[in-house]
Amino acid sequence: MNVLLLGSGGREHALAWKLAQSPSVTGLAAAPGNPGIAQVAALFDLDASDHTAVIAFCKNEGIDLVVIGPEAPLVDGLADSLRAADIAVFGPSKAAAQLEGSKGFTKDLCERAGIPTGAYVRCASLQAARAALSRFSAPYVLKADGLAAGKGVVIAQTLEEAEAALADMFGGQFGEAGAEVVIEEFLEGEEASFFAITDGTTILPFGTAQDHKQVSEGDTGPNTGGMGAYSPAPVLTPALQARVMDEIIRPTVATMRADGMPYSGVLYAGLMLTADGPKLIEYNCRFGDPECQVLMMRLESDLAKIMFACAKGELAGAETRFSDETALTVVMAAKGYPGTPERGGAISLGEAEAYGAKVFHAGTRAAEDGALVANGGRVLNVTATGANATEAQAAAYEAVERIDFPSGFYRRDIGWKEVAREAQA
Ligand code: AMP
Ligand code: GLY
Repeated sequence: MNVLLLGSGGREHALAWKLAQSPSVTGLAAAPGNPGIAQVAALFDLDASDHTAVIAFCKNEGIDLVVIGPEAPLVDGLADSLRAADIAVFGPSKAAAQLEGSKGFTKDLCERAGIPTGAYVRCASLQAARAALSRFSAPYVLKADGLAAGKGVVIAQTLEEAEAALADMFGGQFGEAGAEVVIEEFLEGEEASFFAITDGTTILPFGTAQDHKQVSEGDTGPNTGGMGAYSPAPVLTPALQARVMDEIIRPTVATMRADGMPYSGVLYAGLMLTADGPKLIEYNCRFGDPECQVLMMRLESDLAKIMFACAKGELAGAETRFSDETALTVVMAAKGYPGTPERGGAISLGEAEAYGAKVFHAGTRAAEDGALVANGGRVLNVTATGANATEAQAAAYEAVERIDFPSGFYRRDIGWKEVAREAQA
């Protein structure tokens, strides 16, 4: 089959790399892609917000399956436009993508379906939000309702901080995304991610991971899109995974179907493992970045086949097998990230992949002379596997050290929680 992959980050490089290994893929196109994706796919200049252009491209090129990487085109309804044109697509409809596109939508769904999550209030004005604060206690969790590139969540330690943050949100800090705000109960515990692929009826668990959102070692400093991740996440024991499926994923998929907006694609649940069991923090309607990179390193099944079966509503019986190894990825970012990153810094990958590591490109660009340079906040995802987190971590950092990227930086402790647990075991 001919596949078109939309997106340009490390997540999409990992998807492209895996799709290219699939015996059922005869042609792989990507738009806009990046220099890493260009190693395995033909790149095209296509604007995902121009649905007519994407449809015309698919018809002209005989595309059998479109894979949409990031959330924005999903929330924008690209999957609906493609389906209306009879083109198979991996990714949810605009209505179903509300699970990521509107935090209030998801909280209401949890309430109706009895899905464990923090108590919450939806607020449409600053006045209502300030009044609602009295129903919570510090730390206050404040969330812009809409998509805010992962930056729409504020955890305020005091009432004053919370009021100031609310004023910023309603003052337009996150644009339209902050026109409504959700205030919710602060949940305590360890965070973990659970992935499932569903065609709206059949649900296949698709691995676990933990990421590191904060920019600096020891999980300190401002939040980022993710500075590293590993999979599997053994804190999500088989018993806890069964609870996540029964208490969170199944009721979500059943409710979406009953409400006439069946969810098709990958459902990524951000969880807090609390003393009362797993609770939903948030849903994403796409793979995590960089969690996808570690999942793809471990996936042994044919990704294109799974995605095509999902798109066709024929997921029952599809095979999803992962290796028992741990995969770990270290994000190399450009100095300045998560603020304004330095662009154009030289990168030499050297022998980074010599011992089985894989370097996924996120924000890179080929300069006019062909040299690789930095072109974004998160630049490279250096990914390796091992028998456990300790070995995977050692292998990933060995590869990192072979890379010459003077204007970059990275965390030196990716996987620390799991490595500490392994040292105690
Ligand atoms: P989100 O963008 O919704 O994933 O939130 C970003 C981060 O904020 C999460 O990864 C958590 O670390 C934290 N967070 C979000 N909601 C809560 C909550 N209700 N309780 C505690 N921490 C939270
Ligand atoms: N790494 C977090 C995310 O993709 O949302």
